[in-house]
Amino acid sequence: MLAYDHFDPVGPLRSLYECDDVLNFVRRCLGLDELHRYADPFGALNVSIMRDGDVLDWHFDMTDFVVSIALQSAESGGDFENAANIRGNDHNDQVVAAVLRGDAPERVRVEPMTPGTLMLFNGRRSMHRVTPIKGATPRYVALLAYDTKPGTDSTDALKLSRYGRLAPRRHE
Ligand SMILES: [Fe+2]
Repeated sequence: MLAYDHFDPVGPLRSLYECDDVLNFVRRCLGLDELHRYADPFGALNVSIMRDGDVLDWHFDMTDFVVSIALQSAESGGDFENAANIRGNDHNDQVVAAVLRGDAPERVRVEPMTPGTLMLFNGRRSMHRVTPIKGATPRYVALLAYDTKPGTDSTDALKLSRYGRLAPRRHE
């Protein structure tokens, strides 16, 4: 995971993230009255890097939405597979179990994530995964972190586990 303080302050990705028009566009797409960028010095903007053999297994998200931009696809694998809306108000454990066993291909869709794709994804009720990466080309996805409340930061424990440090990187 590439942390926010690794990005060139005037580079394209950070400029895009810090642009108020983009913030307002995302806010309106999500139908929200209020939206803020994270105050997390590492987690506000990330690039997720997945290399040969890496995988992100089936899960539901803990957040209402994730905003991502696909930057580079792997040679093969790295598909974003999504079993949309399989967790409703009543827990549909049998469908979840069937997807986990690979017995419900009709419930699973590969979402198009060609480079350049901006995706707004609600993963609370949709179980999803990234299939194993194959080949020498890493898969890159930018993750733009927003919250409906201002000042969102992550805990020190999360920072240490995800970035291995608490001190911001010093720019030369
Ligand atoms: Fe997720």
